[in-house]
Amino acid sequence: MIKIKNLDEMERFASILAKHLAAQDLILLNGDLGAGKTTLTQFIGKHMGVRRNINSPTFNIIKSYQGTNLKLHHMDCYRLEGSDDDLGFEEYFADEAVIVIEWSEFITDFLPTTHLTIQINTITENERVIELKAQGEYYKNLKEAVERELSID
Ligand SMILES: Nc1ncnc2c1ncn2[C@@H]1O[C@H](COP(=O)(O)OP(=O)(O)O)[C@@H](O)[C@H]1O
Ligand SMILES: [Mg+2]
Repeated sequence: MIKIKNLDEMERFASILAKHLAAQDLILLNGDLGAGKTTLTQFIGKHMGVRRNINSPTFNIIKSYQGTNLKLHHMDCYRLEGSDDDLGFEEYFADEAVIVIEWSEFITDFLPTTHLTIQINTITENERVIELKAQGEYYKNLKEAVERELSID
């Protein structure tokens, strides 16, 4: 459990996570509307060196950005609830990019089995609690590396 007091601490979390991310890393963001999924993605992008403004891809579902070393594919699958449309997800997952997905529960059939899930829970207006869940050995190592670095001031 990671306690986040404000936006600055959310950015610090994102900066540490971004440092450890590599091509084809799959990050699933869970949490209610307003929890901070898009905000966290913006911070991850910023620390990957994305210069363009990252905004919510709800209506486009997928938006792609170029970072310093890696691309970032940002998906918001909210509008895919109850549909089984394949928007060519395979190609995005196979790309030399980091993939961050909001509302991934609506595309479970297309998701690779290994990934890092970041659950964001709202506590107060500015406070959040984050929980990391890793599926697969690779993501267990990623989770541990991030948590180790977070605990160092
Ligand atoms: N610690 C925090 N972490 C993330 N967002 C925060 C935090 N404190 C306040 N906020 C605000 O909460 C809102 C989160 O909205 P958004 O990122 O769009 O949520 P989601 O994508 O989960 O629906 C933003 O207005 C953001 O500025
Ligand atoms: Mg959002």
